[in-house]
Amino acid sequence: MHHFTYTNGVLHAEEVPLPRIASEVGTPFYCYSHATMARHYVVFRDAFGKLDVSVCFAMKANSNLAVVRTLGQLGAGADVVSGGELQIALKAGIPASKIVFSGVGKTDAEIRLALACNVGQMNVESEDELVRISAAAAQLGKKVRIALRVNPDVAAGTHDKISTGRKDDKFGIDWTLAPGLYRKARELPGLVPSSIAVHIGSQITNLVPFEAAFSRVRELALLLRAEGIPIDHLDLGGGLGVPYDHSAEPPPTPADYAAMVKRTLGELNCKFTFEPGRLIVGNAGVMVARVIATKAGASRSFLILDAAMNDLIRPAMYGARHEILPVKERPMAATVRPVDVVGPVCESADRFAQDYRLPHLEPNDLVAFMTAGAYGAVMSSSYNARPLIPEVLVKGSSYAVVRRRPTFEQMMALEQLPPWLV
Ligand code: LLP
Repeated sequence: MHHFTYTNGVLHAEEVPLPRIASEVGTPFYCYSHATMARHYVVFRDAFGKLDVSVCFAMKANSNLAVVRTLGQLGAGADVVSGGELQIALKAGIPASKIVFSGVGKTDAEIRLALACNVGQMNVESEDELVRISAAAAQLGKKVRIALRVNPDVAAGTHDKISTGRKDDKFGIDWTLAPGLYRKARELPGLVPSSIAVHIGSQITNLVPFEAAFSRVRELALLLRAEGIPIDHLDLGGGLGVPYDHSAEPPPTPADYAAMVKRTLGELNCKFTFEPGRLIVGNAGVMVARVIATKAGASRSFLILDAAMNDLIRPAMYGARHEILPVKERPMAATVRPVDVVGPVCESADRFAQDYRLPHLEPNDLVAFMTAGAYGAVMSSSYNARPLIPEVLVKGSSYAVVRRRPTFEQMMALEQLPPWLV
């Protein structure tokens, strides 16, 4: 459920008409809905009933300061994967104790920063990292709760590029090697090895792979407890999918997911951490673009927009399909020809959709890419010297620009000529 709906034939974000934002902010832009984010957070959190659960929003999905603060104010923690995300989380007001530091390769500087801030948990991805975290913690005189992120060798049944739990993926520690590393962690200074972490991929639309992975976590927890390693936390990652394509089977609901977690792991009496990203912000955001031109080719028709693959890379990178809606509701004439929806970037990969059925649109008309709140703005670039596009947050009848579009001068501010070219 989301709060982007047509009112009087015009697509609104909550109570704000998108054309109003377009004329005041310019296109393209991302627009997020406060009420949608809040709803998803609360529905997910409340699905677990009496389990002791903390929801650490996976900031890689959307690390805008205002988005993170909105979720933080509702009680969310944060799952961060870089020193940058950690600093945004703190700046957004998330208490360090609610921050989990994940990520497959943490630099020494990031480890020291995380320890200095007293993050709640660090998820360890290799033996090498275990040793480095221990050494840094000992040097700072700190103790940090750690989880080993285990690789359970489970195929998540999602896109290859976002599957992370198969044995040949770079992520995590092979689950059969994990007991040995927990024994080692117990002997090292500065570490409290009381948690297990797992995350098998993203946009997962079936509970079976989750259950397979969680069963392995259960086995490992019982084994470690039997050896006297007191596992009392489980971090089950994120990954629950959202509906992008309404013709496809809807993904399981948070309630279905929570029931499976209870069934598989409930009796262990652990504290649980979840790291949802897409589920919280995916359909809380849209990207709005303007039609620059239409073009009839020999065999195809093109709708050329002012947004491009650098602004929303998911279609080019994963073949992802985002629903595209005209911002002014139009009847769909039976005779309308499907179009290829493209951007102005000089690559054939700069195509958002092929043979897409849209009502007749003309230059200056607006379209909205739905479900663009997760992995949209965060993955954008300024390829073709295109400025990063603004982000806008709507709450009820108010809206605010929460990231400005840089000026040309700001874009160039980091570049300089060497002395021999001046
Ligand atoms: N925790 C860990 C350790 C992760 O690696 C991820 C996502 C998450 C949590 C959040 O997963 P979510 O709940 O959002 O599925 N750029 C890709 C998605 C990459 C996901 C990376 N890891 C896309 O646009 O589909």
